[in-house]
Amino acid sequence: MIVNSPEWKALEQLAEQSRRWHLREQLQNKHRCDAMRVEYDDIVLDYSRQNMNPETLQALLKLADAAELGKKIEAKRTGKAINTTENRAVLHMALRADPEDDYRVDNEAVTPLVIDVRRRIAAITQAVRQDKHLGVTGKPLRNVIAIGIGGSYLGAEFVFEAIRQHPSCADASAGRQLRFLANVDPADFHRATEGLNPAETLVVIISKTFTTTETMLNARAAKAWLSEALGFEAVSKQMLAVSTNIPACEQFGIQREHIFGFWDWVGGRYSVCSAVGLLPLALHFGWQNIEQFLLGARSMDQHFLSAPFAQNLPVLLGLIGVWNSSFLKRPVRALLPYSQALHRFAAHIQQVDMESNGKLVDRDGRALPLEAGEINFGEPGTNGQHSFYQLIHQGRVIPADFIGFCRPQTSVKLSDNRLDLHDELMANFFAQPDALALGKTEQELRAEGVPEALIPHKVFPGNRPSNVLLFPELNPYRCGQLLALYEHRTAVQGFIWNLNSFDQWGVELGKVLAQRVKSVLQTDNLEGSENLPFSTQQLLSKY
Ligand code: F6P
Repeated sequence: MIVNSPEWKALEQLAEQSRRWHLREQLQNKHRCDAMRVEYDDIVLDYSRQNMNPETLQALLKLADAAELGKKIEAKRTGKAINTTENRAVLHMALRADPEDDYRVDNEAVTPLVIDVRRRIAAITQAVRQDKHLGVTGKPLRNVIAIGIGGSYLGAEFVFEAIRQHPSCADASAGRQLRFLANVDPADFHRATEGLNPAETLVVIISKTFTTTETMLNARAAKAWLSEALGFEAVSKQMLAVSTNIPACEQFGIQREHIFGFWDWVGGRYSVCSAVGLLPLALHFGWQNIEQFLLGARSMDQHFLSAPFAQNLPVLLGLIGVWNSSFLKRPVRALLPYSQALHRFAAHIQQVDMESNGKLVDRDGRALPLEAGEINFGEPGTNGQHSFYQLIHQGRVIPADFIGFCRPQTSVKLSDNRLDLHDELMANFFAQPDALALGKTEQELRAEGVPEALIPHKVFPGNRPSNVLLFPELNPYRCGQLLALYEHRTAVQGFIWNLNSFDQWGVELGKVLAQRVKSVLQTDNLEGSENLPFSTQQLLSKY
């Protein structure tokens, strides 16, 4: 086990030593800071505010070797069944492949399959957007409701929000609406359909299995919504599906040419670049924008596969995550984009990371000797600053990723023309990591004349770690890079901890118990509830 390796022990010792360091001194060492900044394709990762040194990185790189990180990445790239509990390859990288990239599963070339689905998406997108594929009453289809949950929803919504105000996307989607429907709460259905004319609306049902309860119920509700307004013919004209379960889609009433497949080697939470994300996003933003998004994701894949680990952004983020969580015992991390467009980023990465690495056992089913997986949360800055940052500055130590952009998607100038809103946003982006790292001492407060009684309340301990990621701008290409960066980060951590990041058995039990409750609710007198815990029986009778 990796925890018994000399490399792990060496890092435990370094972690002990690191408690004596303070970022206030460390940040004065220019040589150290320069060594802890890397750049790829104009994306800067500055990790000089981590509680580590270049020496720590060397030790982490040795750990990566001991954990056979390179071999595991290669097994992933070459389509080995690294999702062992489901005997599946993990090849979401193939979803953004160029035609010449040779990805294979069981020796079958999968790139041509991917390209074929992309071609079909581009074709229907063009037909809908050029008013050639019309609704059943002959009206142009201006709106899309994408129905799906978890991996069949969060990624697409994150990308939608991230790029929709970028000029090329805003122009291409003028007069169109894309809505998402995930929750089985009836309120979500009403929000998704509110104000939309069924005659102008396409419904895309997105479900890898095409059995997920929430999605299937919402799909049935949408089918009723369309057919009550337009007749049953609307189902075959205005409903599309994305799934690996083609027979179930057909049985639901979706026409074969309106079904867009993907494959069991694409995990739900890694499926944004399959038809799961591409179809609704392309219908809304046009194919060109989506091609850029795929190019961005591929560029990060290529970097991940080829850059030396010490210069490799996803590898560095993953190793820093392991350092913070396994060695410094900090199990939470904050995702802090200084971009309102990324307000759904943390929600997506929560699933990517927590469903992947929230595991009890290693790849071979042995109890993990450590607490793997991290708790991810976040909100865009500066909003978060007026909310939970208090705890990050003076309460618990929570490693943070600050994500910022040199250029805004849109600009608003103030009348005096001195500082625009984006500069204000970014001033905070640059200041917060330093505030966390440097803190404020009693002496500094005294020198400012702060009353003695207030000094303990106003001290900032500092020495709080963060990464700073600076991108040139947030366009579809950069959004693809950001997505792939964080997908690979999660894989790196799972590889080091030697767990299977690609299954999710932990979501099953709740689904089974909900079925049991449902069968009780369907009876007149809560029959069968006596088999449920006493507390649950009481709650059900109140319900
Ligand atoms: O319940 C969790 C989960 O299985 C996710 O892993 C998946 O992304 C989501 O449900 C939706 O599943 P499907 O795409 O099959 O509807």
